[in-house]
Amino acid sequence: MTDKTRVMILLSGRGSNFIALADDMAVNPHHQIIAVASDNPKATGLDYARKKNIPLLLLDYNAGRAAAEKTLQEFIAREQIYYILLAGFMKILSPDFARQFKNRILNIHPSLLPKYPGLDTHQRAIAAGDKEHGCSVHIVDETLDGGPLLAQRAVRVLPNDTAGSLADKVLALEHELYPFVLQNIESLIKQEHEQ
Ligand code: GRF
Repeated sequence: MTDKTRVMILLSGRGSNFIALADDMAVNPHHQIIAVASDNPKATGLDYARKKNIPLLLLDYNAGRAAAEKTLQEFIAREQIYYILLAGFMKILSPDFARQFKNRILNIHPSLLPKYPGLDTHQRAIAAGDKEHGCSVHIVDETLDGGPLLAQRAVRVLPNDTAGSLADKVLALEHELYPFVLQNIESLIKQEHEQ
């Protein structure tokens, strides 16, 4: 039987969302992080994985995306990973990869999607004069930051907010949102499909 508790994290940098997920699962082991993968061997997020003895998988994109994704696919099959959690992973997965793992790849994005897919979300929210900003967790499909939404958290944008202050506030919300989504993943996906 499929074990849906087996997850892996993909990151490229700081890894604070990975740390929030790992710390949550250390208290409440609703899922298990089987490995952390990165396209960037210098990602500081990998230090925490090393500290916690979580296996690492390095994805070499120098040989092209197809080769890197093949490594990842083989790992997922061998280790029977169910959910693939993108947490600051800066590579775009191929449409084929997204289709192969339909409803099994999640991503956290620092905006209230469908607003501001892509980069510089905090600056764009300020420039647009938004009164509210936040973060989203969504299912990854073939579109960039465009798959079905599972949950969001919002914060008010204050007149003196800068891109930096907003980023800090939104990041704190991200650290609550991603663990919440994973804790409730089966019911959130079911709800989304019923909509
Ligand atoms: C977060 O803002 C996340 O929403 C975005 O990339 C950033 C990653 O931060 N996708 P971290 O590496 O988890 O600290």
